[in-house]
Amino acid sequence: MAYLGTDIESLKVAAEAIKAGKLVSFPTETVYGLGADAFNAGAVARIFQEKERPSFDPLIVHISHIDQLSRLTRSITPVVLRLAEAFWPGPLTLVLPKQPEVHDIVTSGLDTVAIRMPNHPVALQLITLSGTAIAAPSANKFGQLSPTHHKHVTKQLKGVEYVIEGGSTTVGIESSVVSVDEMKIQILRPGAVTAADIKKVIPEVEVVDFTKPVDNHLPSPGLLNSHYSPKKPLYISNSLDLFAGKKYGYIAFSGDGEMSGPAKVFVLSAKGDFAEAATNLFRALHYFEEEEVDFIVAEPIAEQGIGVAIMDRLKKAAFQYLKD
Ligand code: TXA
Ligand code: MG
Repeated sequence: MAYLGTDIESLKVAAEAIKAGKLVSFPTETVYGLGADAFNAGAVARIFQEKERPSFDPLIVHISHIDQLSRLTRSITPVVLRLAEAFWPGPLTLVLPKQPEVHDIVTSGLDTVAIRMPNHPVALQLITLSGTAIAAPSANKFGQLSPTHHKHVTKQLKGVEYVIEGGSTTVGIESSVVSVDEMKIQILRPGAVTAADIKKVIPEVEVVDFTKPVDNHLPSPGLLNSHYSPKKPLYISNSLDLFAGKKYGYIAFSGDGEMSGPAKVFVLSAKGDFAEAATNLFRALHYFEEEEVDFIVAEPIAEQGIGVAIMDRLKKAAFQYLKD
């Protein structure tokens, strides 16, 4: 494994590696991606190997220019273009009917492909320099915590050729994934772009809010109920009396972190800002994975706006959700 900077010479090295069918971990505004040339099936296969990801969970293809859409999808409709114009580059992934050239390994055999243009200069430059689209899941082992810093990537993945050292990501949770047709936009995975944001842009199309998937019918194969888990038990609760006398780390949504029960407190946003809390969520979980605490307790937060996405990640990461 080699580290690369974010200067143009380093990004050229990374782009050559992508062209040569190698794996490169790169920063986006959401989380770090583990990237390979989307049109090189052998390289994409290595992503699954390295992540230990089951082959039924399809990848997101990243583009840096709207002209790349036509190679991936045959469905460049007015609704798609309006979503792209409003939210790209940004944390919105569109699931659209795929072109035959998009290999089954990328889409897990589905006839749709997930596409996104990330809002990060390093990611955009890397994609452009590599002259292709880049298939990339989050750069973590399957089921474990998503990386929001390059150090989180190297903690989990050892077989990646290059990791670009881009520091912390800004949004902090994975993109919103939506399926799109002319009549309906359905949120498959909640993220920083909310149903309300989409409704504002396209008021005449029905937007179906994120609904918790039923076990045996997953609208998106990656939406397993257990996911994003830290290596220690995580409970979601605000009744700290339950944990009296135990050594645990507490993820508080807001405030100054002054409290007596927990061994350590990580405050997501002192002023209680939802976007800032999302940015810090995975950082807090990675932090307590390393700290000397036996388990983690997270304060539940209101499921509104980006709070829906935060609670989605927490519930999937949680060992138990203890309701008051
Ligand atoms: O922010 C992000 O989206 C990050 C960065 C790297 O871009 N990527 C990411 O990828 O989170 P990943 O692989 O961890 O999650 C991709 C999600 C999975 O839940 C997967 O099931 C869903 O997208 N997905 C991919 N292709 C799909 C398809 N054709 N239909 C439905 N869901 C799809
Ligand atoms: Mg992931």
